[in-house]
Amino acid sequence: MQIPLIDLKRQYAAIKDEIDKAVCEVLADAQYIMGANVKTFEKEFADYIGVKHSIAVGNGTDGLVIALQSLNIGPGDEVITSPYTFFSTAESISNVGARPVFVDVRPDTYNMDENRIEAAITERTRAIMPVHIFGQPAEMEKINNIADKYGLKVIEDACQAVGAKYQGKKVGSLSDIAVFSFFPTKNLGAAGDGGMITTNDDNLAAICQALRLHGSGEGGRIAYNLLYKTEEELEEASGDNTVYDPRKYYNYLIGHNSRLDEIQAAILRIKIKKLDGYNRARQQIAAYYGQALTGTSFITPATIDGRECVYHLYILQTEKRADIVKRLAAKGIATGIYYPVPLHQQKAFRDLGYKPEDMPVAQYLSQRTFAIPCFPELTTEELDYIISAIKEDS
Ligand SMILES: Cc1ncc(COP(=O)(O)O)c(C=O)c1O
Repeated sequence: MQIPLIDLKRQYAAIKDEIDKAVCEVLADAQYIMGANVKTFEKEFADYIGVKHSIAVGNGTDGLVIALQSLNIGPGDEVITSPYTFFSTAESISNVGARPVFVDVRPDTYNMDENRIEAAITERTRAIMPVHIFGQPAEMEKINNIADKYGLKVIEDACQAVGAKYQGKKVGSLSDIAVFSFFPTKNLGAAGDGGMITTNDDNLAAICQALRLHGSGEGGRIAYNLLYKTEEELEEASGDNTVYDPRKYYNYLIGHNSRLDEIQAAILRIKIKKLDGYNRARQQIAAYYGQALTGTSFITPATIDGRECVYHLYILQTEKRADIVKRLAAKGIATGIYYPVPLHQQKAFRDLGYKPEDMPVAQYLSQRTFAIPCFPELTTEELDYIISAIKEDS
């Protein structure tokens, strides 16, 4: 039996008619950029998460950069984050010219250890960026309390956790601003790149809307004033009626070209209606694995009261990773290693000067964790096959 880590072809096959119809409609409408689907999807996504504003962007990485810029975070600033995450989390901080400051993770949830945050705060710290890693919500109440105490902003990296809940509220609604990714393998995946910023703050939303569109037009002017608090005198529009926004070619900020494509929005509008079902299926798979692997030497993902994980990845921990991964591969079962190099040890971050032992938990996990297949369309037969293969050597 061959079982991939995730099988996007199965998902497409199940919803092919709806997707094909929606894509064809976009092609026929020929409103390819910032059309009705993007606008409607922003509203649907905001309602789903339970926030006032959603701002669709080109991908999660851009979303993180834009979220940081909306808070005016840049050179000279520090942002506290996790070393046990995808590279983008800290890359975004470096990309705005700020410094990522890593705080080691907890051995149970793999999320940033809230008890270590205060020791990392300096006079340069501007924000904390927790990551809801593998779909498991971070300890947001304690993180928000620390942020309040020190006057810091909180940016959730919710890229892996769409639909996850913390104390009954969806992640992405628990901080100043949050970011999601619609990379195809995510729980809510596009047929290409995509991302979303969520916030309840009208000003941050207005700045993000401008930054994704080159900081231009009326939105750019508003964002400039919000960021720099100047009362810029508006030059009179020059009577250019050839564009919808007479200020389209008037730029007020250095922004980005980072919009969600209309085709992706049309696809995501179909999938968001199915997301709770997809997440429930992942949770059922996780429960099945958890039960079957109880009593073995494998450490399964933590389940924490008041938190609903959406298992973007199902991660096992073992001392014998290399052997088991090889054995599963020989039986046709794909696995993945998330993450083999913690961020404080990435070559790209060598200038930050961290040593491996600075983040002992992240270092430990990077040598022991691996993901096994966990996607909604997995069959019971496949699950049983995976479980028996794992148990052979437990
Ligand atoms: C934790 C985390 N942060 C950020 C990103 C970046 O998202 P994207 O690939 O859409 O740029 C991802 C996903 O790839 C991620 O898993």
